[in-house]
Amino acid sequence: MTTNTSATEQPKYHMDVVKWFTIMTVVWGIVGMGVGVLIAAQLIWPDALNYGPWLHFGRLRPLHTNAVIFAFGGCALFATSYYVVQRTSLVPLAFPWLAKFTFWGWQLVIVGAAITLPLGFTSAKEYAELEWPIDLLIAVVWISYLVVFAGTVAKRKTPHIYVGNWFYLAFIITVAVLHVVNSAAVPVSMWKSYSVYPGTMDAMIQWWYGHNAVGFFLTAGFLGMMYYFVPKQAERPIYSYRLSIVHFWALISVYMWAGGHHLHYSALPDWAQSLGMVMSLILLAPSWGGMINGMMTLSGAWHKLRTDPILRFLVVSLSFYGMSTFEGPMMSIKTVNALSHNTDWTIGHVHSGALGWVAMISIGAVYHMIPKLFGRKEMYSSNLINVHFWLSTIGVVFYICAMWVNGIMQGLFWRAVNEDGTLMYSFVQAVEASYPGYIVRLIGGAIFFAGMLLMAYNVWKTIQSEETAEQPAAQTA
Ligand code: HEM
Ligand code: HEM
Repeated sequence: MTTNTSATEQPKYHMDVVKWFTIMTVVWGIVGMGVGVLIAAQLIWPDALNYGPWLHFGRLRPLHTNAVIFAFGGCALFATSYYVVQRTSLVPLAFPWLAKFTFWGWQLVIVGAAITLPLGFTSAKEYAELEWPIDLLIAVVWISYLVVFAGTVAKRKTPHIYVGNWFYLAFIITVAVLHVVNSAAVPVSMWKSYSVYPGTMDAMIQWWYGHNAVGFFLTAGFLGMMYYFVPKQAERPIYSYRLSIVHFWALISVYMWAGGHHLHYSALPDWAQSLGMVMSLILLAPSWGGMINGMMTLSGAWHKLRTDPILRFLVVSLSFYGMSTFEGPMMSIKTVNALSHNTDWTIGHVHSGALGWVAMISIGAVYHMIPKLFGRKEMYSSNLINVHFWLSTIGVVFYICAMWVNGIMQGLFWRAVNEDGTLMYSFVQAVEASYPGYIVRLIGGAIFFAGMLLMAYNVWKTIQSEETAEQPAAQTA
């Protein structure tokens, strides 16, 4: 076990588990995005992998979403939260053996997903597809995570809880509640269960879960990351600590009510749809408050962007966060959603958040942590980080622009009517017209993916290198 000690009363931190989660972030990022590139290709050549049902788009798509959100994103969140909570509370992890259990338990969940999803075992609830035995394991791992994290916060040596830890804590608690409530099901066999909720109520609970999975898993946790790594990398204090507290309370109290925007024009009562829309519009304010707080942290340090590619990752991720949280409220307006729903516009929105925000901030955080975790002075190659940064940025821009064009075109195709009220275009015509966009998206995705391979090489070479930092990792907190 690595517990970094020093002669000068530095706390001993438990960094082994952080290292493991950090490495697995890179590994699962490559796997999940690799499957993303594969399914992007399948949308162009649907028959290319015709070797049985387990390689079909319908089964690989949830494999992609689970791998990128829960394996890649999840490992990044575990790694950074365990890293940040120790350094900002000035104590080692509470229950280190339980932290190790969360690592092995989480990897088991991921392997379980990778086996069962291609085999076709699914609850059919988006982002909650895994069947009940794996759901039970997730619940146990997640509660253990809460115990480790909250236990560490509780024994902190600092007078207050650092704001990043507030975000992490809200993310951990909320995801526990969402998972337990949404996954409540009656098992009928080892790999099949049915939701306990009927009809529309099931849909409402599913999207209360789905939207808050976005709000807490893909947002609050990563904001925790932002509040530590942006000031740290910029070597500046947070622009406004007061704003960060307002940001926290406003964000967590508004997100909960916005899920109805996923069910516009459905059997959900109209008032619940409108509530979802209004709350989504309000959500713009706290989201941008946080984004601006992060950006303004660079006041007086903007010149560092010229030379520091890690800081570039962090700052550009914030701009994608700002973009997707502007786009989301717009798409929640019922008349806009009437055009965007079920089109590639949604896919573009998802990936401006997922690739632009979630992936890029995680990549920045991993580059920040790796040298410190392994006692190296810096990453093996800053030039490679720079190339990675450009590949990621260009890749996302290709991806989302292609999806905007496709999405708006599809929406307009579907609603175009002749004078006699008949449809002007068949569905297949809209699909045919989408092909150029699919090709551009594949190119963008492949470019982003290539950057991840460079990252793996750079991380590997850093760990291999002999050059050590002057100070042990724990002292640089
Ligand atoms: C190289 C990178 C990636 C590529 C090429 C890629 C590609 C794709 C493709 C082709 C789809 C299916 C779209 C459809 O059904 O029309 C998809 C869906 C999705 N991807 Fe990715 N993806 C990538 C990275 C990511 C990352 C990093 C995340 C999350 C952190 C993510 C989250 C999602 C989600 C949530 C969906 C489902 C969207 C929905 O149902 O509306 N993807 N992706
Ligand atoms: C203020 C913040 C946001 C709001 C109000 C919002 C709103 C929306 C809306 C209206 C949709 C389309 C629903 C539909 O037509 O079916 C949507 C889809 C989606 N958004 Fe956002 N969004 C926000 C931020 C984000 C961010 C930051 C991410 C990712 C990190 C994200 C991920 C997703 C995903 C994954 C979906 C697809 C859900 C599905 O499978 O249908 N959103 N969002």
